[in-house]
Amino acid sequence: MKQIPVKDLKPDSYCSDDLYLDEEYILLPPEVPVSSELINRLVRWGFLTVWSNGSLSDNPPGGILPVEEGEGGTGQEAPSLVVDAAEQKTLQAVREFFSDLVTFCEKTYSAFLNNQRLNPGTVADKAKEVITAVRLHQPFIFRIQEMDDPRRNYLIVHSAKTAILAAGLGLRLQIPQFKLVDLVTAALLHEIGMIRLPPQLYLSNRVLTPEEKRAITAHPVIAYKTLRSFGFPIPVCLAVLEHHEHMDGSGYPRGLKGDQISVAARIMGICSTYAALTAERPYRPPAEGHTSLLDMMKRAGKWYDEMLLRSLIFMLSLYPIGSYVMLQSGAKGLVVESNPENPRCPVVKILFDDRGHRLKDPILVRTDEGINTIRRALTQKEVEELLG
Ligand SMILES: [Fe+2]
Repeated sequence: MKQIPVKDLKPDSYCSDDLYLDEEYILLPPEVPVSSELINRLVRWGFLTVWSNGSLSDNPPGGILPVEEGEGGTGQEAPSLVVDAAEQKTLQAVREFFSDLVTFCEKTYSAFLNNQRLNPGTVADKAKEVITAVRLHQPFIFRIQEMDDPRRNYLIVHSAKTAILAAGLGLRLQIPQFKLVDLVTAALLHEIGMIRLPPQLYLSNRVLTPEEKRAITAHPVIAYKTLRSFGFPIPVCLAVLEHHEHMDGSGYPRGLKGDQISVAARIMGICSTYAALTAERPYRPPAEGHTSLLDMMKRAGKWYDEMLLRSLIFMLSLYPIGSYVMLQSGAKGLVVESNPENPRCPVVKILFDDRGHRLKDPILVRTDEGINTIRRALTQKEVEELLG
């Protein structure tokens, strides 16, 4: 692939082949024009070059756009097809990235289980990749409910999800890069102390014996001690140690309160809880994202840092990205983007009209508090019935 300077990108121009940020991350397929928003984002993030096997042109590559003509074909349908093609490609890139990330966590947790030394630099490099992926692929990458993988260990998938949410929240809060790398490193490792426990302890909801409870509550301490011995930075170790502390002092292992808990641990506590609530467990189906956030809001200021929880809600919206909802009209769709001005009114991709007919070309709707208001979130059962 050859390098293309970002300054050569022009709004509404096309690249004759996939445009990459680096060897791994696709920015645009050839059928999607370069937008000024994309150029601004690349400049803001400090990227000077992008990569491609193709070349830039003012015209779309021939034969790619299926423009419908004749009866029913107005030509206006093409953009939605393009958006969908680009979205599918991004979602595929997100799925592949997530699967690789889970494999990395699997290897890291297994090494820990086998008493092998972990290399702080290797985990920090992976954390940097997570941050770059979240920068590039938000909001798609926040559809974490779709990423459950029952074939893999719950703790490992959970850690990967938590890292993605923590990276998103850290970027939103404009945490400096070096602190962000520590935060995401900690998120990737935060449950590592639990991996030595028998899975039935963390995969069941039965009442634990006092001894089992002690074993569970020791996991942040075990992780802290081991990571310190491997030379991980102190902020990483502290964030792992404190991820079950609560703002009112009711958490563990030390019963810290408010500002005594590091910001990274407070972010991780919130992201880890949201990821856990919305995940499928052997003893219960996944909780719906909207309900999970409402449950967490009840404990804002008590368990969770209120400002940070609010930021998570603004990032995902109150009907979180990846949730299925019903609008006031009866139409049903998927929440695909948050609304920076109002977390109650995200952007929804309408998939089914008010009579339950699947739309050939889904429509994007910015919901509001009027006619396009969201009536409610769909239950897991309703989603399964809807999608067949
Ligand atoms: Fe934990």
